[in-house]
Amino acid sequence: MQPIVDLIEDIRIDSYLSDDAPRSLADDVLDGLTRPFKELAPKHFYDARGSALFERICDLDEYYPTRTERAILEHHAGAIAATTGARELVELGSGSPAKASLLLAAMDECSRLERYVPMDVSESALRESAATLSKRFPGLRVHGVLGDFERHLDGVPAPLNGGPRLVAFLGGTIGNFPPGTRRRFLRSLADLLGPADHLLLGTDLVKDPRVLEAAYDDSQGITAEFNRNVLHVLNRELNADFEPANFEHVAFFDRRHEWIEIRLRAREACHVRISDLDLDVSFAAGEEMRTEISAKFTRDRVQRDYRAAGLRLSGWYTDPDEQFALSLASRATPAHANGPR
Ligand code: SAH
Ligand code: TRP
Repeated sequence: MQPIVDLIEDIRIDSYLSDDAPRSLADDVLDGLTRPFKELAPKHFYDARGSALFERICDLDEYYPTRTERAILEHHAGAIAATTGARELVELGSGSPAKASLLLAAMDECSRLERYVPMDVSESALRESAATLSKRFPGLRVHGVLGDFERHLDGVPAPLNGGPRLVAFLGGTIGNFPPGTRRRFLRSLADLLGPADHLLLGTDLVKDPRVLEAAYDDSQGITAEFNRNVLHVLNRELNADFEPANFEHVAFFDRRHEWIEIRLRAREACHVRISDLDLDVSFAAGEEMRTEISAKFTRDRVQRDYRAAGLRLSGWYTDPDEQFALSLASRATPAHANGPR
């Protein structure tokens, strides 16, 4: 697939979304809303309003993951830069620039920092972050990829001057995949890594359900508004007529699966017309639709996922309360094969 390329000074943005983003939204919604238990794919939360609401979630007292992961980076970015020797940072689902900034500063101190490659589906988040970091690190090349990390990993450019690279996937976003898909996705990340590259993965850890549930159901209702934002996206992009106020935000910790489940519950029975799909959908009073899961991890779970994906855990960094973890992994090279795959 050929991207649309946009170049200004040190910033280049390749877009893989322009042609098929509407198609992919339509396919996902048709698939999700015709299932026996309705569901919507989480990447559709993040239009400009969704990204802005997510930024506000990150600043909430109840939402500990962002500040905890940032604190771990404040303590350990130097060690991560030193052990990986990375000169290039690739960041998937990059969102805002705060965490990348800590990593880039540490890399800059350690070795010759060459390039930052953020990838996101949110054009507003990608452009803002590219501009901010390009200004903060003069001479840094920024090569943004506007794309879906489930479909456009091929759009991540080959390393400049051979790397080594650090591929970061932060914020606990890995937890938004169901477990089977998660391992398949980790395998696709393993395929992206060269022998000297590392993956840096952020995972939220299993903890007291009350703390977890508060993080996904804040007292100001910002998370609820973020959750309902997906209905605004469908109304606008697919000419649907959802009444967002008729849908209540639901978040609970599923103890058996150890994941947070986020749903929208119809307060009253309703019929929704999605004109662009020529689809009519009915909701019974109290019917729930799943909009996201957010899996919580233990070190053992991370290690087993790595092993299943052909990766090897090589570093584990956590905060004193063990709320969140960052881990480093590299390709597990089988004993009989030494060269690149
Ligand atoms: N890494 C940031 C943001 C996490 S929120 C942090 O740690 O705070 C998840 C981010 O991933 C959002 O910026 C969203 O736009 C992006 N995203 C979600 N699904 C995506 C997909 N399928 N492909 C690319 N980006 C995606
Ligand atoms: N990746 C984030 C997480 O799992 C996304 C997120 C935070 C989210 N709060 C949310 C998604 C509320 C939907 C609703 O922590």
